[in-house]
Amino acid sequence: MPGRLEPPFSRRLPASVEPNAFSQVVAALKDQGAPLVDLTESNPTRAEIPYPADLLTSLADSRALQYDPNPFGLHDARAAVAADHARRKALVNPDDVVLTASTSEAYSWLFKLLCDPGDVVAVPRPSYPLFDHLTSLEGLDVHPYALTYDGRWSIDFDTLAAAPERTRAVLVVSPNNPTGSYVTMAEMRELARLCSQRGWALIADEVFADYPLDQTDPATDVARRADVLSFSLGGLSKTAGLPQLKLGWIVIGGPASQKARAREGLELIADTFLSVATPVQIAASRLLSAGATIRGAIHQRVRHNLTVLRAAGRRFAACEVLKVEGGWSAIIRVPSTRPEEELVLDLLEREHVVVHPGYFFDFPREAYLVVSLLPDPRQFAPAIERVLRVASA
Ligand SMILES: Cc1ncc(COP(=O)(O)O)c(C=O)c1O
Repeated sequence: MPGRLEPPFSRRLPASVEPNAFSQVVAALKDQGAPLVDLTESNPTRAEIPYPADLLTSLADSRALQYDPNPFGLHDARAAVAADHARRKALVNPDDVVLTASTSEAYSWLFKLLCDPGDVVAVPRPSYPLFDHLTSLEGLDVHPYALTYDGRWSIDFDTLAAAPERTRAVLVVSPNNPTGSYVTMAEMRELARLCSQRGWALIADEVFADYPLDQTDPATDVARRADVLSFSLGGLSKTAGLPQLKLGWIVIGGPASQKARAREGLELIADTFLSVATPVQIAASRLLSAGATIRGAIHQRVRHNLTVLRAAGRRFAACEVLKVEGGWSAIIRVPSTRPEEELVLDLLEREHVVVHPGYFFDFPREAYLVVSLLPDPRQFAPAIERVLRVASA
């Protein structure tokens, strides 16, 4: 029809939402019923982790029949989250806790609080690919700063200091997905110095903080330590292996006046959405306590698979299992005799093993494979053997 206009779609969305070649092959093999071993599985509810059968009874508490909206969440739930930090010897005031439906939502609220469209957030590379979407959905640009490996992954502060004028916040993930590296106390001091010099806020994603593997000097609970405006993010998703319950949180830290201003802003944002369901807030204290058993089982699983991976790695001299300080994933450096893409497709089609290529996480060069440490060990051990054999060939 002449003069007819197409409805507009935002430039915040990527130009194409087509699944990439790798995802298309995985989907096609699944459709054909191929017996895939998924070494990218990061969903603990699909990894044969035992969950207490009566875990969800607390969600049926009849107090949840009452709707008592509160932007930051019900006081008892915030107090339960604050108290749970004592496990890591962090003293947190319930007034500094803001409940969210997930860590991803926490990011979006913090970006609304701190940034205008076109502003910049400094983000580690390699890291979690969702940051590209989380930032562009808020109309933000990213300044990638490098993590470099030298026996352990550490922050390349020169690349962070090169962040542009419009930078508003620096994001750290500790331990990081997928490098498994914690921010150390020494890095924390340098981060705080840079943030205070440049007027940046510090956002610390600490969703994996409860899964240390090999680090003696981790700076966990960043918001409690920093003397700059800072936010620590956590949630039931990782800390209790319960992503489906949709309860995350932000802990606000820093100088009192900045904290007060941040609280005011977040109150408005949270009040606009009121996204956390009442039953999960009423149940928060009991879920956090019951979560200890699940966390323990996941931790044991991750430790076990890492031991298996390291032992297998020693038998394939061409591959190197990089140091993992914490979290649920591990990185294998493999010979760069062919592109990562070709290797992962080969592993998929010939061995029916799913692993992620390093380029999904923006490694600066090839060739790396990223594996989850969550899968059932009966599948993990033989599949890792096949991955290392094919990668070494
Ligand atoms: C580093 C990191 N942050 C946040 C999340 C998302 O957590 P949530 O389920 O609370 O949104 C993930 C999920 O894998 C993650 O790896």
